[in-house]
Amino acid sequence: MHDLYGTVREVSEKKFVVTPWEVSGVVDYEKLIREFGTQPISEALARRLEAKLGDAAYLVRRGIFFSHRDLNLVLDDYDKGKGFYLYTGRGPSGPMHFGHILSFYFTKWLQDRFHVNVYIQITDDEKFLEQKRHLSYEDTQKWTVENILEIIAVGFDPEKTFVLQDTEFVGHAYPLILKVARKINYSTAKSVFGFSGETNIGFSFYPSIQILPSLLEKKRCLIPSAIDQDPYWRIQRDIAESLGYQKAAAIHSKFMPPLTGIADKMSSSRPETAIYLTDDDKTVKNKIYKHAFSGGQSSIEEHRKLGGNPDVDVPFQWLYMFFEPDDERIEEIRSEYKSGQMLTGQIKDILVEKVTTFLHQHRERKEKATSKVHLYKKDGTLAQELWKHDFTNT
Ligand code: TYM
Repeated sequence: MHDLYGTVREVSEKKFVVTPWEVSGVVDYEKLIREFGTQPISEALARRLEAKLGDAAYLVRRGIFFSHRDLNLVLDDYDKGKGFYLYTGRGPSGPMHFGHILSFYFTKWLQDRFHVNVYIQITDDEKFLEQKRHLSYEDTQKWTVENILEIIAVGFDPEKTFVLQDTEFVGHAYPLILKVARKINYSTAKSVFGFSGETNIGFSFYPSIQILPSLLEKKRCLIPSAIDQDPYWRIQRDIAESLGYQKAAAIHSKFMPPLTGIADKMSSSRPETAIYLTDDDKTVKNKIYKHAFSGGQSSIEEHRKLGGNPDVDVPFQWLYMFFEPDDERIEEIRSEYKSGQMLTGQIKDILVEKVTTFLHQHRERKEKATSKVHLYKKDGTLAQELWKHDFTNT
């Protein structure tokens, strides 16, 4: 299908689809950059960012965050003292898995280094309206409460972070949402998002709501997310300046592959494809030993002789994309696995250990999250500012 903005792509040689609601096939990221019209993160830009990034630098150095819009301008603004702010989000459709949390940790590490405001949108409206999910309103509310705790466990600064839950906040911001909605005509929305005659009218209005948080300050807004969310920012960039705001900047990640193999995306409806942040140690172990797709050979002798293929080995890919930040160590694992010295079971052991340690620490913070929800949603400095903000005057 060919469309105005190139959102839905089916590429003949290697078929893949990337939209905000679907990722399937093996994604060709270079092709996606060309078709979405984003920029690859150049060597020079990566160096410039890395120098500022600290803990998050490995995600840029390794090309996990690989594409951007106006990231150079964000850094210029920062260097000139104009500042910027961050925005990311979550659609509460079920338990969160590691793919979902990647952008949140990255955003938290950016906040730590740049000391900037962070807006986190919880799109309970989107997940209720999305037809193929068939979620009840009550389900979306249950997952909202649960997902917010996972997000708070990431450790954002409660005074500089506002968690805006759509069904609570959009009424307050409605005047600005209306201004956005009036700028987007139906043929643009149709071609970008693939809306059809079957789409309910709530869903076709929804894009104006996902654009809102990119217009909450007059500073430049930088949006970390996987590249599937980019279609919203393309529309935002077409209309922001006419509303007196800046074009959104974005930094895009690749998709963490499902446990079951490097094609497609982890899915909340297929538990064997993902590790959820709520999985206990035993489940983590079982999922990795049973379902993680291996790039190893079929017997130990073969493996010792021919070695494994880290490019398709999901345990290696997960270590590389998130769980092993130490460059020397990850290259050691790669070469030992490739040479056949490290066996499939051993690389899985490493991943099990990393994932369970990570989850223990995350869960410890989650236990303390309930008592902090009010700060992020209502009482922290930034939350209070936004609730007091007069949107009739923006
Ligand atoms: P949602 O809930 O589908 O996804 C939440 C975040 O996770 C990213 N993501 C992944 N990243 C890496 N690997 C994966 N396998 C993977 N799967 C999902 C998504 O890109 C996203 O960053 N409509 C949005 C909610 C939203 C939002 C935003 C997201 C509202 N405003 C601003 C990002 C930025 C949604 O349903 O995301």
